[in-house]
Amino acid sequence: MARIPQETIDRIHDTADILDVVSRHVDLKKRGRNFFGLCPFHNEKTPSFSVAPEKGIYHCFGCGNGGNAVNFIMEFEKISFVEAIQQLGDQFGVPVEFTGTDESKEFFTHLYEIHQLATDLYHKALFSNRGEEAKKYLLDRGLSEASLKLFKVGFAPTGSSFLWNAVKTKDYTREVLEKSGLFGFSNNDVYDRFRSRIMFPISNASGKIIAFGGRVFGTDDPAKYMNSPETPLYRKSEIFYGLNLTRDNIRKSESAILVEGYTDLIQLFQAGIKNVVAVSGTAFTEKHVQQIRRFSSKVYLAYDGDSAGIKAALRAGYVLLKGGVEPHIIEIPDGMDPDDWIQKDGGKEFKSIGIKKASGLLRFHLKTAGFKELSSSERSNVIKEILSEAAGIPDPIIRQGFIKTLAQVSGVEENQMVHMFSQQLRKKRSYSKQEESKNSTQLFTTVNAKAELGIIKVLAGDNAEAKELIKEKLDMNQLENDQLKKLAQLLIKKAHINPAEIIASFDAAEDREIVSRILMEEDELTEPIQMAEECLNTISKVSVKEKIRGLRIKIREKEAEGEDAIELMMEVVQLQKEING
Ligand code: UTP
Ligand code: MN
Repeated sequence: MARIPQETIDRIHDTADILDVVSRHVDLKKRGRNFFGLCPFHNEKTPSFSVAPEKGIYHCFGCGNGGNAVNFIMEFEKISFVEAIQQLGDQFGVPVEFTGTDESKEFFTHLYEIHQLATDLYHKALFSNRGEEAKKYLLDRGLSEASLKLFKVGFAPTGSSFLWNAVKTKDYTREVLEKSGLFGFSNNDVYDRFRSRIMFPISNASGKIIAFGGRVFGTDDPAKYMNSPETPLYRKSEIFYGLNLTRDNIRKSESAILVEGYTDLIQLFQAGIKNVVAVSGTAFTEKHVQQIRRFSSKVYLAYDGDSAGIKAALRAGYVLLKGGVEPHIIEIPDGMDPDDWIQKDGGKEFKSIGIKKASGLLRFHLKTAGFKELSSSERSNVIKEILSEAAGIPDPIIRQGFIKTLAQVSGVEENQMVHMFSQQLRKKRSYSKQEESKNSTQLFTTVNAKAELGIIKVLAGDNAEAKELIKEKLDMNQLENDQLKKLAQLLIKKAHINPAEIIASFDAAEDREIVSRILMEEDELTEPIQMAEECLNTISKVSVKEKIRGLRIKIREKEAEGEDAIELMMEVVQLQKEING
């Protein structure tokens, strides 16, 4: 059992300079005391991501993500706390050793282990007697043995305890088994989730296997593909199938080809087209764009050549465009997918026709909508639909270029198009303003919450007298907001305030959003003592009012039962006086 000693963690916190850590991944510019850049956690075109080197923390005023250097690496690389500590330790020359026990480290280690074990087992099965037919099927589909080995393709036989028999002797906890997503449970029975399926192991970016996609084979199960569920290792919307093997090719070729299926990816890779990725068992989302954007700013969509494929390609194309990635669409002959096409015509054809003649998103949209043949009112609708997508493009340069091209390819005068667009935009703006105000009202708007926040600001500031006043007078139990209460306790305890260290006590991302924002905001309090007094006053008033409300309820109860409530009434009067005085 293993655990990282607290002192090692502290040393990493002290050594891993937030500016060093972040600037490896984000281009930062200095403004005042802090640094700003484009947030790596959401799509934006004006920097709202800020780093405070003196405080050792970062916070994005756009999406709320925030924390210290370790949190940043965890979020950016999608790795666990332990892995982040190890990585930073390597980077900054702090040796990380394990002692004692740490269940969470072991939990993850076991999850990885089970997946590796399953991969080996399924892979062996494919190359054994039990997998003979499945292997023949795959080879007949044009996949080579070398490809099957490289991608560790496997076979899960029919029985319901093929994997379970190999795993049950290993003493994994019930939680590990459940969270692996590889088993089903009924009463006291454990059974394999994947049976009678060709197995495609799915890896994370560093090549560790974290999930499976299973293609039906040898039964008539109606679900052609079954994928692992979301697990602590497998976040579907952040994982690309194949990326661990193709990332360098994507970087080199400065473009990625996005396909829908596991077999599409392997077939392309085998044909020498290696800058390819597949979404695994889920729709293409903004999160995927954030991932892919780290490797290339140009994506070719190679979706199925049927109407569902076209629709999905359009949807993915607009998601890419809004995320600042240039979408191109490879037109696959009708009724085929990239895998079929390569089997039929080979990789050369895919390159010389598919990639070379790929369309821009707009041309593809108009072409597949049959724009030329439409009546003018139908055309107007298509254009409105496209303009509404354009309104979601945050980058003004991309947006402008897009509208210009739209005018050209649709044969509408550019002025007219711009006019239509600004109407569209106005609609969208008034909508998103409503949304925005809805969101911001949730945070610290009640009198009480504002006062609690004020207390925190004084405690985080550097006026000793004001802080002392709060230490003396504040009754912690009067703070309603749990995050602020915990923060206040931490701030009071520390003589010297280190924001990065304080943030380290908040594990949940939602908590860090709030705490990093509060600690980041440079609030030069002009009258800290007065602020402290007023806030204390408000908080104690609110808490007295709460007490009164409670007493009133009791009074009513007593009276309902015909009892005497005079003492409680006196108490209320007393408390009322307190507030007014
Ligand atoms: P397809 O149905 O196009 O399958 O689904 P395919 O990849 O061409 O497979 P073959 O050629 O018949 O073997 C494309 C992708 O969509 C996901 C899988 O990731 C699949 O590779 N999918 C499909 C599912 O997750 N579940 C399904 O039931 C079907
Ligand atoms: Mn296919």
